[in-house]
Amino acid sequence: MQDVYVGAVDQGTTSTRFMLFNKQGEPIAFHQVEHKQIYPQPGWVEHDPVEIINNTILCIDETVKKCQAKGIQTSQIKAIGITNQRETTVVWDKYTGKPLFNAIVWLDTRTKETCEKLGKNRDQYRDLCGLPVSTYFSGVKLRWIIDNVPDVKAALEEGRAIFGTIDTWLVWNLTGRQAHVTDITNAGRTLLMNIEKLQWEPKLLQALGIPKQCLPEIRSSSERYGTLACSLLQGVPISGILGDQQAALVGQTCFRKGDAKNTYGTGCFLIVNTGEGEGPVPSKHGLLTTPGYQLGPDKPVAYALEGSIPIAGAAVQWLRDNLQIIKTAPEVEDLANSVKDSGDVFFVPAFSGLFAPHWREDARGVIVGLTQYTTKAHIARAVLEAVSFQVCDIIGSVEADSKATIKVLKVDGGMTANNTFLQLQCDLLQCPIVRPQVTETTVIGAAFAAGLAEKVWSSQEELVKLWKVDREFSTKISIDESSRRWKRWKQALERSFGWI
Ligand code: G3P
Repeated sequence: MQDVYVGAVDQGTTSTRFMLFNKQGEPIAFHQVEHKQIYPQPGWVEHDPVEIINNTILCIDETVKKCQAKGIQTSQIKAIGITNQRETTVVWDKYTGKPLFNAIVWLDTRTKETCEKLGKNRDQYRDLCGLPVSTYFSGVKLRWIIDNVPDVKAALEEGRAIFGTIDTWLVWNLTGRQAHVTDITNAGRTLLMNIEKLQWEPKLLQALGIPKQCLPEIRSSSERYGTLACSLLQGVPISGILGDQQAALVGQTCFRKGDAKNTYGTGCFLIVNTGEGEGPVPSKHGLLTTPGYQLGPDKPVAYALEGSIPIAGAAVQWLRDNLQIIKTAPEVEDLANSVKDSGDVFFVPAFSGLFAPHWREDARGVIVGLTQYTTKAHIARAVLEAVSFQVCDIIGSVEADSKATIKVLKVDGGMTANNTFLQLQCDLLQCPIVRPQVTETTVIGAAFAAGLAEKVWSSQEELVKLWKVDREFSTKISIDESSRRWKRWKQALERSFGWI
């Protein structure tokens, strides 16, 4: 019998890629392309949806060509999955297929006033959707577009405008406009979905003034949504959709209650599985209650608690691009290692405000503790520490909400290639950290969801056997020392509050 393969698109904040995996879960080939970041005003971030769909098709085709060169035929590719930057909002005309506005990216803070208009109590809808009101989520971005783009308002009234997060935009285009769908993990980030019923919630639609007919159908994360109508994979089914952080949860095979993963990308997102078929766990400590996955329409829903941090790897990029104290991101490791500590310098990267657990849109970045002794090495170390301290803040909330201790944290994403950083994270967190052999957990998670739907893999247990450890990190400093440094971080953090 011929070998079979599953592919997945990972449409992220800064780039798009397509990767193909074999049945053993090993990456076979990939292609990746960056896209333009559009910054019309401070705090505003947009993407061109047409560039994103074109890049997606390009990545699929280039990967397929690389596979064909290795003797793999397209008939051996059984399904593709989609994973995506979440919350990023697209509105388009369903007849022309053209976007009616640029995509407003999850990091964008233009909706501060839209949020304020919803009322002073940011937690007023938590019971319904598991989320606080924040500029982060798609519903307020959609409201802003309706209020500020006259073409959209008119197109909505005429029933021409439809909405989607990036997964929806991609599936709609890739299926030749046949499917207007999303999955529970993406819908759960809109502020519009009822977290228990997993359907659009009339009270939330009314509060935000969103007409239901422009919204996609909400489906499970693993089922056939349609087949590709374009690219070299024409005819191959699209059978998995997961928001990128939930895809990483699946890719790390965090299937048991209490399993936790942390992905260090542009931002950093820690997700803990709170159990399959157990219902949502509300957060009283600033976390998000979010669907983790549902691996088939008849399968139980796994809920999760999430701590979202908007700036992690982006702070290292900022050292490279804005301060220019490193030439490439990996150089931060040697620079940070050239000093024994940060020299009491603390860096709070609140470039887009602070998300979990603080939810402070009025915060902005600060560096405190500078003296004439401070060098760029201390600042580089303070940047790595800042990412780690933010994760400590999240774990504190997770343990308080779930009343359980995280026993081990599985990590992935660009920054986890940096051993100095992971040791620092482990020390400050006082928790063992494990890095898997395949760190492409986001894209493999979407491939797993698609492959399960098409019976390439038979069960979650089979997937668990494919997951293998690369390296484990254990704590090298005392709990007193880590608590002392965490306390100091909190003082720095307070200095970032209320800047705007
Ligand atoms: O919620 C935003 C998140 O999905 C973005 O992830 O990896 O594109 O930074 P990433």
